[in-house]
Amino acid sequence: MQDLNKLLIGESVKEVLKCDLQLEQEAIHLVREAISCCELEADYISRELLADILEGEEEHLDWLGTQLGLIESMGLENFIQFHRHE
Ligand SMILES: [Fe+2]
Repeated sequence: MQDLNKLLIGESVKEVLKCDLQLEQEAIHLVREAISCCELEADYISRELLADILEGEEEHLDWLGTQLGLIESMGLENFIQFHRHE
């Protein structure tokens, strides 16, 4: 039986965002390791693909951090109200 990563399931909006933030941080760490491996092996095509993935993951991390910052600054109720219209 495979031992897969633990599921991160938030029970509130803030917890969901925090779980996603943690997963993004873990993904970024893994992608950076993979980029280092590609550099050691002189696999520059794979490195370029991973660099694109890393850029996307860093954008996700930034977005999640921004959302958590908004919850802190405007309060959860206002945050949810703000996003209801999106
Ligand atoms: Fe992501």
